[in-house]
Amino acid sequence: MSEPLLAVDALRAGYGNIEVLHDVTLALDEGTLCAIVGANGAGKTTLLMALAGIVPTRGGHVRFDGAEITRLPSHERVRRGLVLVPEGRRMLPTMSVEENLQVAAGVRGAAGFARIDGLFERFPILRTRRNVAAGSLSGGEQQMLAIARALAIGPRALLLDEPSMGLAPKLVDEIFAIVADERARGTSIVLVEQNARRALALADRAYVMERGRVVLSGTGAELATHRDVVAAYLGG
Ligand SMILES: Nc1ncnc2c1ncn2[C@@H]1O[C@H](COP(=O)(O)OP(=O)(O)OP(=O)(O)O)[C@@H](O)[C@H]1O
Ligand SMILES: [Mg+2]
Repeated sequence: MSEPLLAVDALRAGYGNIEVLHDVTLALDEGTLCAIVGANGAGKTTLLMALAGIVPTRGGHVRFDGAEITRLPSHERVRRGLVLVPEGRRMLPTMSVEENLQVAAGVRGAAGFARIDGLFERFPILRTRRNVAAGSLSGGEQQMLAIARALAIGPRALLLDEPSMGLAPKLVDEIFAIVADERARGTSIVLVEQNARRALALADRAYVMERGRVVLSGTGAELATHRDVVAAYLGG
């Protein structure tokens, strides 16, 4: 079997003298979607931030696309195609939608800028709002922009932190449709979601985190019917 695109082995990370992630091991195969579910404070955001190189790693290894990236700075991970869409949709609030996309696309130079028209095709709402300051967009529009910015970089793997959080049901549907479409285009995805049912339905593989550890893993279908998962996360 070939090596996973992203392989995380016994990863430890935290803040100050508090260790949050304890020996987290997981794998993301090329072209697949991996869901991570878990209660508030389980360490899901910390995991994605450590994978993105924003929270420093204290132990363990991260390999991406066949190379060790454990100590690489965040911008170098982005250059290699490992791109985080952070919790809370951080963007440049006073810049327009189009400028936000240009800044992201600039990481790839001309090839990046050439991608922006295609992104407006896929996110028509962003085209109609292209000259509006990002900070004045609705929550759903901001999430679309946050995802579009990551796609402007042309990622091989996307790390999505709670993309549907706080959105109305129709927008949640749109976000999940975009995620499914991106996976169908061949991008590998790590999806952290409170909406465990929807995330597991999309997932090839899934992991449950509790207090900084992976406590269960399996296919999305296996975890969606697992007694403990149903009881804790699917309201069963
Ligand atoms: N910047 C920080 N400094 C110190 N501790 C932090 C920081 N960010 C998170 N933590 C702590 O790390 C632990 C894991 O938090 P994290 O945000 O990774 O969890 P999460 O699974 O993403 O939760 P949520 O579902 O609420 O988003 C929590 O105990 C939290 O209080
Ligand atoms: Mg979080």
